[in-house]
Amino acid sequence: MSLRENVCAPRWFVLGELLLLSSVVFLLRVACGCPEECRCQASLNSVDCSRQGLAEIPPDLPPQTRTLHLQDNQIHQLSASAFRSVPQLTTLNLGNNSLSILAPGAFHGLQHLRVLNLTRNSLHSLESGLFHSLPQLRELDVSSNNISHLPASLGERWENLTLFAVQQNQLQQLDRVLLESMSSVKRLFLKDNLWKCNCHLLGLKLWLEKFIYKGGVMDSVVCASPDTWKGKDLLKIPHELYQPCLSPSPDLESGQGQLLGPAQRAVLRPPESHSVEEQDQSECERKPKPRPTNLRRALVTVIIAGVLSGILCLMMLVATIYGCTYAAITAHYREAPLDQTLEPAKTEGKELLDSPPA
Ligand SMILES: *[C@@H]1O[C@H](CO)[C@@H](O)[C@H](O)[C@H]1NC(C)=O
Ligand SMILES: *[C@@H]1O[C@H](CO)[C@@H](O)[C@H](O)[C@H]1NC(C)=O
Ligand SMILES: *[C@@H]1O[C@H](CO)[C@@H](O)[C@H](O)[C@H]1NC(C)=O
Ligand SMILES: *[C@@H]1O[C@H](CO)[C@@H](O)[C@H](O)[C@H]1NC(C)=O
Repeated sequence: MSLRENVCAPRWFVLGELLLLSSVVFLLRVACGCPEECRCQASLNSVDCSRQGLAEIPPDLPPQTRTLHLQDNQIHQLSASAFRSVPQLTTLNLGNNSLSILAPGAFHGLQHLRVLNLTRNSLHSLESGLFHSLPQLRELDVSSNNISHLPASLGERWENLTLFAVQQNQLQQLDRVLLESMSSVKRLFLKDNLWKCNCHLLGLKLWLEKFIYKGGVMDSVVCASPDTWKGKDLLKIPHELYQPCLSPSPDLESGQGQLLGPAQRAVLRPPESHSVEEQDQSECERKPKPRPTNLRRALVTVIIAGVLSGILCLMMLVATIYGCTYAAITAHYREAPLDQTLEPAKTEGKELLDSPPA
């Protein structure tokens, strides 16, 4: 009996708690206007409308919402200023929807948005300037879409962006200007695209090498074309094979800038030419030499040498003057009559010798 009571008591307790919780949730919904399809957590300003079969964004979202989960629905487009009713958003998850059309100003007004997740949609392109109105954006996930091109000016000022995910799309290349706009990016996801490892991808290769050197984390860029490089990692293609890209020749232009096979390359490449790597290395070797310090050191040496030789010259001059004067005086007394003693000459000489310092 007592054992059964012990088992049952917590259950009743839990049931009571659940009842209390659901009534609190109900009250909160009434009080804060939580949309019927969503679950709201007022303390966190979090609204979860995921997996509700939604085709549109619920119109009556609480205005103080900071986190909005809209993933796993069937939303297929976003109109301009679609989130104007929730300007405090910091996290927006639109993953696993059917988005194919984003109006140019879709994210307009989201001054505080930090995380935007658009993974698993049907986006084919992203409008230039689509994310211009998001100054705080830190993480952008547009992976698993059908994006074949990214404009160079996707984000205007992306100093705050630390994560950029575009894996599983149909990208063939990535503009270096776009990469350079993400000056703080730390994590980059690029795999499973249709990377075309021709001359256009040299910019990406060089940028990625610097990115990794600075401690950036990335997956991999595996070439999908041309056939020579299919399945190869872009970062493992030797630099010297990109040599023809630096000096475009008619052969390359006719071949649409594709990398050549080793045999063709050997013919094309002059033996005395330096590879990209060599050039980079020589640049790197030149840089660490602190030229200004050397220059300063040389200047100091010249000045010291000048001062020293100046002093030496002065001393020699003084010695010469003294020598000459002494010689002149002794010569004068030698010519003088014999009856004159040498005493005055000695004293005079002493005086001369003593007088300059006095
Ligand atoms: C995507 O959303 C659908 C419902 O719209 C769901 O059935 C499916 O499991 C979701 N996929 C993933 C990977 O979560
Ligand atoms: C976006 O959502 C997917 C699935 O919900 C998740 O795996 C991924 O980590 C999210 N991306 C970011 C940047 O949080
Ligand atoms: C980056 O975020 C900080 C605040 O965290 C903000 O002051 C700054 O303006 C943002 N950068 C840009 C370029 O908007
Ligand atoms: C989009 O990409 C997926 C694979 O990521 C593919 O299965 C699908 O056919 C593509 N859709 C279109 C319209 O290109």
